[in-house]
Formats: sequence, structure tokens, C-alpha cells
Amino acid sequence: MAEATSETGSETMHGAAREATPALPARALRGERPFFVYNEAELIAAVAAARAFWSGYSRPGFRLYYSVKSNPQPRLLQALRPHVDGFDVSSLAEARLIRNALPAATRMTWSGPAKTPRALRELPALRPEALHLDSFDEWLALGNDPTPRTLRLNLDGVPGHKLGFSRRELARLAARAPTGFIGLHAYLGRESFSREAFAAALAQARDVVLRHPDWFAEDGIFLGAGLPIREAVAAHPDIFAPDAFAPEPGGARVVHLECGRGLVQSCGSYAARVLSVKSTPEGRSVIIDGGLQHMASHLLSPRFGKESVRLAFFRGAEPLDAAAGEPARINGSLSLWHDVMIEGEPAPKDLKRGDWVAMSPTGAYGWTAASNQFLGPTPVSEYFRRVDGGFEDVTPPHLLSYHQAAAPE
Ligand SMILES: Cc1ncc(COP(=O)(O)O)c(C=O)c1O
Repeated sequence: MAEATSETGSETMHGAAREATPALPARALRGERPFFVYNEAELIAAVAAARAFWSGYSRPGFRLYYSVKSNPQPRLLQALRPHVDGFDVSSLAEARLIRNALPAATRMTWSGPAKTPRALRELPALRPEALHLDSFDEWLALGNDPTPRTLRLNLDGVPGHKLGFSRRELARLAARAPTGFIGLHAYLGRESFSREAFAAALAQARDVVLRHPDWFAEDGIFLGAGLPIREAVAAHPDIFAPDAFAPEPGGARVVHLECGRGLVQSCGSYAARVLSVKSTPEGRSVIIDGGLQHMASHLLSPRFGKESVRLAFFRGAEPLDAAAGEPARINGSLSLWHDVMIEGEPAPKDLKRGDWVAMSPTGAYGWTAASNQFLGPTPVSEYFRRVDGGFEDVTPPHLLSYHQAAAPE
């Protein structure tokens, strides 16, 4: 459902910069539900930035894939489709979503260890371009299925040993003399991209291909790059400067770059009403009608902390001035000590029950990755702000929580 253009927020430069005060839909601010807003202009800008970053040193022909797990909101998928080369899914539900919501020719790869027996049975209908295999057991389960496959490497130095083939798993595979892999897959980790990590991943991949040339029919590289949001990439040329990369030597290898957070995180804002403002021995403490039940984690970047976080405050549709405010801790409403969105950021001195706190960047791993069953939380709404400034209500029509199913609003 479309709504007229924004009533709050500042204009964006070229429609692309992240807004200091996010544009929020007036009808959402009149209501009580917490809500997410995804900004199309910022989404497009983030995809363009990821392409520019990568094409700075990749050979021509690389492809950019969107990692659906980071936010499978169907309107976002639709908006992304003209700007990316394909979608990487990590579950049967995501694969079906891509096939149901997007044109049949959409390219789709499949990573992650959730390849259930049912998922493998549905492969012929789902037609992924490649399955990134996570284990020897998956390889066995696939048997003679003709779906193209790659080998996901458990990278040296990357935390988490459950994902991909460790050297031991590779040894198990070697005993069965596999053939036909179309390349290698690796994920560098959450916001873990660096020149060194990238070079080490390529070196490890090259080592596997050199040791086992018979396994590979093609030598594609499928890389979950672990890029943070574009502002962080721009702010840290020491880590991310493309010209510092050595070009990857070799033939006409196609490099697929898979990105989740780096594409959608900066386009999202999340807003919730204030329930209480308390004075505590640790300072001012704000409790909002939201928190971890709507967000998979607090607002800090795992690598860059508060750097890209922005808070804005509203009374109705009116922005409140936080610059001259006092530090506060923004808590969620769950009775959990770690349900804290952020602390130490300035909030308006007169902030009170009923005001709104808007937080960004919250476009990735938000509502769709949260543990949204706890305490039967207030349901959220979702809005999409088109490039032309109009808002669409894109809240899914079905209920997402057991509590809501038992006692619909
Ligand atoms: C295999 C793989 N690819 C891509 C991603 C997306 O990562 P990010 O959001 O850091 O870009 C993940 C996240 O866990 C992943 O496991």
C-alpha cells in the first residue's frame, strides 16, 4: 500500500547518502507499533559502492550476489534484483522465496549447512546454479544429483569450525576421489574483510586446487566477503583500499562476491516507542517497546563499534534535538540484562514515554533474524521508501509469532 512522500527527515544528497535523520512514514509515527523502514536510494547506493569497491581490483566478469539470510523481506529482494547478479540462499524457505517472488531466470546459489533431506529432494524444482557444500556428509547425501557444486573451505584463522571443509574433512573426501566441483567457496566472517584475509583465502583455495586438480571441472571462486557497510569501507582505506590488492593471477576465473550486511544494513532504520525513562545509579536508562525481540543483536558493529550508528528521536512526527542532550542507555523491553541496543549516546533531556527512538543502520539481521517469540512482543511493521520518496507498507500479511497466532490483535 503506497503512502505519500515523507513528512519527516532531511533530503538525501543525490538520493544516496545515509540520512542524519531518517525519513519515517507519518502513519507509522501516529501508531504504536515499532517499525522498520528500508530506503531504496540508500540500498542502490550500497550496491553501487560494493560493485565499485570490488571492480577496483577484480578482473572483469565478477558477479555480485545478495545473501538472502541477512534480510529476506520480499520487497527488498524485488528492489535489489535489477542491481545484483544473483541471490545466495541458506535454507529451503529462502530458496522457495526466491523462486516464488522473483522471475524464474534469477540466478541462485545455496550456501550454509541447513541443506535438509527435504531441501535436497526439492533441488530439481529449485534449480540452484551451485550448491556450496559444507561437509562430507552433504557430499554423500547428494550422491549423483547433477546440481553443480562447489567445495566450501573452512578457512585457516576464521573462527567457527562447523562450516566448510576443514583439512580433516578434505582428507575424508580425498579417499573417495570426487570429481566435478565447479570451484571453491569461502566466507571470511562477519565484517572480517581485509586485504590479508582475502589474500589468505585465495592462497588457501589455490593450494586445494593445486593439490587436487582432478576434483575440479571449473575453478570458480565464490566468496562471502564479510564487507561492512559502505561508510565503514570508505572510512578505513587502510583496511579496504582496493589498489592495495594484488590482482589474482590465473585464467578466466569468475569471482562471485556474496554480500549481506554490506548491501542492506545501511538502508534500514528501526523505530520503537519509549516506555520509560528512568534514573538509575548507572545513569539515564530508556526502555523501548522493542529490543532483541525485533533485532538479532545490539546496534554496534562487531568491528567498528558505534562508528556508523545513528539515533534520532521524535515526538509524534516532530524530530527532537538530541545534540544538546544527555547520555542514555537504550534498553529493550525484555527482562534480559543484555537486551541493550546502545549506551552512552546523547538523548534529548526531556525524552518521555510515548516518544520515538529511531535507530540505524538496521537493514540487516533485524526483524527477520530476531528471536521474535519471547514474551509475545508487540508486532512490528515494515515500510519501504521508494526512490521517489513514497512509502509502501510492506508488513507481511501473515502472523509471525505463536503468541500472535493464539491471540490475534
Ligand atoms: C556463506 C555466507 N555468505 C554470506 C554471508 C553474509 O555475510 P555478511 O552479512 O557478513 O555479508 C554469510 C553470513 O553468515 C555466510 O555465512
